[in-house]
Amino acid sequence: MNKNLRQPVIAGNWKMNKTVDEAGSLIKDIIPLVKDSECEVVLCVPFVDVPAAVELTKNTNVKIGAQNCHFEESGAFTGEISAKMLSSLGVKYTIVGHSERRAYFKETDETINKRLKAVIKENISAILCVGENLEQRNQNVTEQVVKRQISLALQGVSEEDLNRVIIAYEPIWAIGTGKSALPQQAEEVCAYIRSAIRGLYGDVAADSVAILYGGSMNEKNAAELLQKENIDGGLIGKSSLDAKAFSHIVEAANQ
Ligand code: PGA
Repeated sequence: MNKNLRQPVIAGNWKMNKTVDEAGSLIKDIIPLVKDSECEVVLCVPFVDVPAAVELTKNTNVKIGAQNCHFEESGAFTGEISAKMLSSLGVKYTIVGHSERRAYFKETDETINKRLKAVIKENISAILCVGENLEQRNQNVTEQVVKRQISLALQGVSEEDLNRVIIAYEPIWAIGTGKSALPQQAEEVCAYIRSAIRGLYGDVAADSVAILYGGSMNEKNAAELLQKENIDGGLIGKSSLDAKAFSHIVEAANQ
């Protein structure tokens, strides 16, 4: 299938950055710079920034996402936010299973699977993150690692519901290090992920699922990464905090 039939997605992952006021000014800077974009532009902002961000992006082509959510709808889970709460605010996307959540907050493949299903139930699109650490790459087990993460995360997710899932390949060694994967390295794993989806769901699903690359993507390396056949967009951390850099990446995705 022609890659051009999949809409590119450029998603910013702001992580734990920006107060509401700071978020407001960054969003105001970003909106005019990306207004003609044909690709989907998403900003995954901290929870507390969501209401203002949704308000500011009304009637624009920028969508607001969250960075995580709990898998239960409500209940005694102090400090947590549910997918239902996010959807009631107008959130269209949320990251699920980011490696920082897996590493620092002990999220497991099992809870990631539950989160993913909770998100889909609320008609929110999940940006499911998978990726190997440096040791696993050096041991040549990258494919086994991502295959396992994907199959466990997608357990019980129907082919129809897969329409609500975007997969982000984020090698842990490339995140926040300034050392992106080489375009060919990223392409190889993204192609492998597509073949894993083909094995699980068949050709139609594999050809339509969006697969993003994330890990030190910036305005300099984006064009080359985004040209690759199986890379349909990017999940961008550091460079999404700079309106110009982020908009250059969006431009590269529009080429
Ligand atoms: P980075 O972060 O672009 O700063 O490497 C990417 C991510 O963690 O999603």
